[in-house]
Amino acid sequence: MKIAVSGKGGSGKTTVSGTLSRVLAQRGYDVLSIDDDENPNLALTLGIPRDQTVPPVPSDLLKRVETPGGGTELELAKSPAEIISDYGTEAPDGIQLLKMGEVDHAGSGCMCRAHSTAREVLSSVVEAREEVTVMDMVAGVEHLGRGTAKDVDTLLVVVEPYFKSLETGRRTKDLAAELGIPDVRVVANKVRDDQDRAAIEEFCTDHDLEIAAFVPFDDSIRRADQTGDAPIDYDSESPGVESIRELADDLLGGHSQ
Ligand SMILES: Nc1ncnc2c1ncn2[C@@H]1O[C@H](COP(=O)(O)OP(=O)(O)OP(=O)(O)O)[C@@H](O)[C@H]1O
Ligand SMILES: [Mg+2]
Repeated sequence: MKIAVSGKGGSGKTTVSGTLSRVLAQRGYDVLSIDDDENPNLALTLGIPRDQTVPPVPSDLLKRVETPGGGTELELAKSPAEIISDYGTEAPDGIQLLKMGEVDHAGSGCMCRAHSTAREVLSSVVEAREEVTVMDMVAGVEHLGRGTAKDVDTLLVVVEPYFKSLETGRRTKDLAAELGIPDVRVVANKVRDDQDRAAIEEFCTDHDLEIAAFVPFDDSIRRADQTGDAPIDYDSESPGVESIRELADDLLGGHSQ
């Protein structure tokens, strides 16, 4: 089962990715969590202590090789298994975390190589995985255009109950369809009341978007962020965490693994 989590900035992508990873790992699945955000912070949400360093996947893993026709092409210097064993970080419940390189916008020079490496690493690792992969993506819809999510089977779009957020969800669905991602579902996050719920339901019905889960606004999730804990460690039974557990069960129900 290969899941990517997308959505507008601050919608709750990392909260959903990290908590979903933990829930699936606690269900006994072998989970690989990938932090593909340019400002990575999935480690904390997974429950890796704040003071632990999480090394990124290096951005120079592409090497030039000769093709049979006499030309050259870029190829990854390591296999997916080597990438995970060399650069993966152990997280609670047996999760392996892979953090893609941080993008240094202040630095000079072209970031193309870092982006190409990230794209190659992601597709090779995601393709080779047999159990569960959960990928926390960069905010917005542009990353989908770069094709980093094309190998996933389910794209979760996290939205908040306001128009701009929902609109990002709709555009994400359109792009995902162009990329051939088979299954796109909305996770409605930070839902405070029936009015929020109704607004999301109406928008999703109008735009033919499937809703995978409603995650309530949850003070424990907010507090966990303040204390630097994983939401699931801060309060394993909080309403938000419970709704992500139900989301995991639904996702598992629709997949063979
Ligand atoms: N259901 C919720 N209830 C209350 N607070 C929440 C909920 N979901 C997320 N938050 C809080 O909202 C903030 C943004 O969440 P998160 O970091 O998961 O979003 P994001 O989409 O990954 O953000 P970014 O675009 O910066 O990567 C965090 O402070 C988080 O604790
Ligand atoms: Mg995030």
